[in-house]
Amino acid sequence: MRTDVAQQGEFFAIHLAIMQPGTMAPVDLHFKDKATGRFVLYKNAQTPLDHETRERLLEHAVDVLYLRKEDQDAYDEYVEQNISAIIRDDLLPPEQAGELVYKSSSHVMQDVFEDPRSGKNLQRTQNMVEAMVLSIIKDPDALWHMTAMASHDYYTYTHCVNVSLFLVATSEKLLGINDQRMLEQIGLGGMLHDIGKSQLPAEILAKPGKLTAEEFAKIKEHPLLGLQITAAHMKLRPTSALIVRSHHEHFNGAGYPDGMTGDAIPQVARLANIVDVYDALTTNRTYAAARKPYEAIELMLTQMKEEFDFGMLSAFVRFLGPKDARSQFIP
Ligand SMILES: [Fe+2]
Ligand SMILES: [Fe+2]
Repeated sequence: MRTDVAQQGEFFAIHLAIMQPGTMAPVDLHFKDKATGRFVLYKNAQTPLDHETRERLLEHAVDVLYLRKEDQDAYDEYVEQNISAIIRDDLLPPEQAGELVYKSSSHVMQDVFEDPRSGKNLQRTQNMVEAMVLSIIKDPDALWHMTAMASHDYYTYTHCVNVSLFLVATSEKLLGINDQRMLEQIGLGGMLHDIGKSQLPAEILAKPGKLTAEEFAKIKEHPLLGLQITAAHMKLRPTSALIVRSHHEHFNGAGYPDGMTGDAIPQVARLANIVDVYDALTTNRTYAAARKPYEAIELMLTQMKEEFDFGMLSAFVRFLGPKDARSQFIP
């Protein structure tokens, strides 16, 4: 074991399981000397990690490593590239696995919105969706671990991550879809559902007051714009494309872009509409403060009722939590 005392500066802690045996850590790894509280260099960047290293650390009851703050970007990239292996690792506590998937997905979606025409970014999105679906299949509580650290402030990219997560989890639980590839198509649709907004003027998207008719007409273009942008760089599978296109269709026919009605709207699009509205209502917007979950649900079950497939909305409410105050709104 190396014992050089690292130059003391700012460090952050990670779980040992994140550094996967058989990979190269791209950053220096340190542990904390229990006696002195100082950070000690354990492995240099580019030194391969192996199973013996892990065993040896665990024998010494070390399951936390420390990285320098300035290595954050290299670490984030490492996590993204190895996410599937990391979340399969049973040494990593499920809460931490959920947090990693959420943070990584948010980074990726931030990049996607900055450069929606990058084929590489769309491929990164696909990889994150695979990890997300894997987590949800593996752990029934994954959704709650992943969203535990979700921001209450609205950013289009975190909204897309939230919609994707809720849509995958509810498709599995409420629609009974358990085919992994189908859940990945659904997850990708959720991630990209608002990608068309990247083409709209920021002044309209962030406008605090009521939109003019012209501005609202612009907003209504985002589903079809989303299909156009992605079509140039990747072939979206049918269910992903359906979610991008139809997540604003309303049960009463007042939605857009096609004005479909009732059961003519495919189930997964009806569910996407519910999840999309729920996430938007429960985060801070420029024109409205975040509502508490039960307030959002009450609004959806009363004033907005006509928009949704009511049976599906009731099932969604039960999914959110049958034991809390929300259940009183179930008919
Ligand atoms: Fe949308
Ligand atoms: Fe949305």
